[in-house]
Amino acid sequence: MSNEAAALSGTEPVQDRSHAKKAVNAQIAKPAAADAPEVHALIAACPPLDTNSLYATLIQCTHFAGCCAVARIDGKVAGWISGHRPPSDDETYFLWQIGVHPDARGKGLARQMLANILARPAQTGVRRIQTSITRANEASWAVFRNVSAWLDAPMHEELWFDQARHFGGQNASEFLVTIGPFSMPENPV
Ligand SMILES: CC(C)(COP(=O)(O)OP(=O)(O)OC[C@H]1O[C@@H](n2cnc3c(N)ncnc32)[C@H](O)[C@@H]1OP(=O)(O)O)[C@@H](O)C(=O)NCCC(=O)NCCS
Repeated sequence: MSNEAAALSGTEPVQDRSHAKKAVNAQIAKPAAADAPEVHALIAACPPLDTNSLYATLIQCTHFAGCCAVARIDGKVAGWISGHRPPSDDETYFLWQIGVHPDARGKGLARQMLANILARPAQTGVRRIQTSITRANEASWAVFRNVSAWLDAPMHEELWFDQARHFGGQNASEFLVTIGPFSMPENPV
């Protein structure tokens, strides 16, 4: 039943929450080197993201541009995803960082940016998404639960980088999250 038909008959269609959000009107694209200063400032405005260096952001905006996305709303950078394809695993897209400006949150921009990346020819063959999340980052867990539902793929988590063993006690433990296997939706964006 179409939404219109449902409205006419007075019944509500069953909707997947991850699809139900109204998409925000953002321009999403591969980044270029000139985007790096604004992206770096956005990352700084999105704690708990690690700010890294501007040079690292420049490398992501150039060498890894095909695996990254920058979202602009009214010309201003409002969202960012960095990632790469792990050299040892050709079927996986690893999402390193995701940040959405506080003013643009809650509108599904995170998933829109990820869909933009996965729809690119450069990502042909990707069957799994991986990322790492600290236990306390509830917004991030919510984003990836939504991605799992959107792709209709299972989500698995395991301890990856341990607070004591790998971070010398300085960072909270990072859990490796794997979503997949999946086939890309026909119209992912
Ligand atoms: C995580 C982040 C990128 C999500 O961006 P977004 O565009 O707002 O994401 P969405 O609109 O798709 O919302 C995703 C879900 O998170 C939930 N959410 C948002 N903020 C939340 C919070 N503080 N606590 C719990 N859930 C939260 C939303 O309700 C939504 O869940 P729902 O669809 O089940 O209702 C954004 O909150 C952010 O930049 N956070 C700071 C940086 C960060 O922690 N990045 C992730 C680690 S790399």
